[in-house]
Amino acid sequence: MINCEGLVKIYKTDDLEVVALQGLNLSVSAGEMMAIIGNSGSGKSTLLNILGGLDRPSAGQVTVGPWNLLKASDDDLVKYKRDTVGFIWQNNARNLLPFLTALENVEMPMMFSGKLDRAYAKQLLEWVGLKDRMHNKLTQLSGGEQQRVAIAIALANKPQLLLADEPTGSVDTRTSDLIMDIFRRFNRELGVTIVIVTHDLSLASKVDRVVAIRDGLTSTEFIKRNPNLDGASPLHGGGLNEAHEAFVVVDRVGRLQIPKEYLQALSIGDKASMEFDGEQIVIKAPKPIEEEPA
Ligand SMILES: Nc1ncnc2c1ncn2[C@@H]1O[C@H](COP(=O)(O)OP(=O)(O)O)[C@@H](O)[C@H]1O
Ligand SMILES: [Mg+2]
Repeated sequence: MINCEGLVKIYKTDDLEVVALQGLNLSVSAGEMMAIIGNSGSGKSTLLNILGGLDRPSAGQVTVGPWNLLKASDDDLVKYKRDTVGFIWQNNARNLLPFLTALENVEMPMMFSGKLDRAYAKQLLEWVGLKDRMHNKLTQLSGGEQQRVAIAIALANKPQLLLADEPTGSVDTRTSDLIMDIFRRFNRELGVTIVIVTHDLSLASKVDRVVAIRDGLTSTEFIKRNPNLDGASPLHGGGLNEAHEAFVVVDRVGRLQIPKEYLQALSIGDKASMEFDGEQIVIKAPKPIEEEPA
């Protein structure tokens, strides 16, 4: 479904260049529900905005299904955004029209694409648990309820791909769990591929796979040991380490990213020594160069 290779995004402001993505690789299969986790400033939103057709990459390759987002024309991107992808922001004011009802909000994107389907709009609101609130104006709904309307809006045009940028960032834990359960249901029942961006490690137990992004590169990957566990029980809900197996990402040409803590602990600067004994690869601080006897 998603394939990024060597994806680069450079933001240029007056005299400053920020390399937000420095050659990122990522692939996501159709039907997956996965999370991208990283600290603030690591490039998560940049990546999601590119995948959502909201921003253009600077270089590299990025395809979503049949769409090549590097080469797509502006008209293509409009179609792509309308038909293929749904987007949920942390600050849902970007999705929502406060003085319309929940139902009118969900119908809005349907009208833009000329496919108004009131029954489906109602169905979506029922699925997100707002059956009894659909005729309320958004100003009458709580933050968590508004975020659930935003999810219904993002799905109004039956996208194959749902992108959510910190969707639980401004709601309490209970609402956050509810939102993750809604995502899981849409993923299972409608087969929507879902990519969630977050800095919240506790969401990890709710997804099949977590890709960690660090300094604009995917660095580590965590895959759920038993995909049938959704992390609901306290035994298996322990987040990354307990429920997931960790892997370091190796790109197509064999590069991997060593965590900064490891490098610092061994005082490795810009070079390391590497040995292969047939079974293991060992990376060490370089041996000090011996002085030539005079
Ligand atoms: N529009 C922009 N102009 C300039 N720099 C930006 C812009 N958007 C993001 N950045 C920079 O790119 C880097 C990655 O940002 P972002 O993708 O928002 O990270 P995250 O979502 O992981 O917090 C940061 O250093 C940020 O300051
Ligand atoms: Mg962000």
